[in-house]
Amino acid sequence: MQDSTEGKAKVVQQMFSEIAPRYDFLNRVLSAGVDRVWRLAAVKAALEIRPARILDLATGTGDIALLLKKVAPEVEVIGGDFALPMLELARQKAQRAGLAISFVEADALQLPFPDDHFDAVTIAFGFRNFADYKKALAELYRVLAPGGRLCILEFPPPPRGGLGALYRFYFTRILPLIGGLISGNASAYRYLPDSVERFPDPPTLATMMALAGFNTRYQLFTGGITALHIGDKPAPAKPTPAVRTGEFYPDEPS
Ligand SMILES: C[S@@+](CC[C@H](N)C(=O)[O-])C[C@H]1O[C@@H](n2cnc3c(N)ncnc32)[C@H](O)[C@@H]1O
Repeated sequence: MQDSTEGKAKVVQQMFSEIAPRYDFLNRVLSAGVDRVWRLAAVKAALEIRPARILDLATGTGDIALLLKKVAPEVEVIGGDFALPMLELARQKAQRAGLAISFVEADALQLPFPDDHFDAVTIAFGFRNFADYKKALAELYRVLAPGGRLCILEFPPPPRGGLGALYRFYFTRILPLIGGLISGNASAYRYLPDSVERFPDPPTLATMMALAGFNTRYQLFTGGITALHIGDKPAPAKPTPAVRTGEFYPDEPS
């Protein structure tokens, strides 16, 4: 079990390191630019709770981290990923844009941060790749402060019906072809539709998040092609103020 988790993680890490140089370009081409709209929705959901410190996990080339910092310059933004070539590109992009963001090497299954450290965590198209969802959710819960928010943007399995069939055709036939040609790594773009088919559907992911302790809800975009799951870590109940009654002060004159 341990070996297969580590094996999957290594394959994923190597795959993203290899496609890093072409990743941004392919994202724009393969999603026809719609990914920007989905990303903005995730960023808005994270900023809604007015966080002071945000982790963008599986940050890749840093698109979400950069967007967070552009929309809310006062927020401390940290981008984390375990593929170093992706992180290097993210650093260069932030530098070119003049945005102060820290990018750190971080494995989602063993986050290098203390408990209760972040007010919000965003993960765009990264969660699906984690080798152990339950372990990752436990780690995310640990590093979020009480009252903190987790936002997961992902590709759920294609919806049923006409749009789903069309999308499945695009995803399994066209996308691996274009992705393979441009990135030079055909297997990475075959992995994408396979991993999407295997990913839990939105109600199942919501249940997994709830079991990890989050108050959870989700929203679908573009006919169900993407889903944004929001999980809030419950804040502790405020202590009830002590009530002063005659019973506790028997000597006081009534
Ligand atoms: C599809 S890319 C998404 C990048 C970026 N968030 C975006 O929206 O474009 C997935 C990223 O997840 C990262 N990743 C996968 N498993 C990870 C793990 N266990 N810990 C940290 N990063 C991981 C990969 O290295 C890759 O950069």
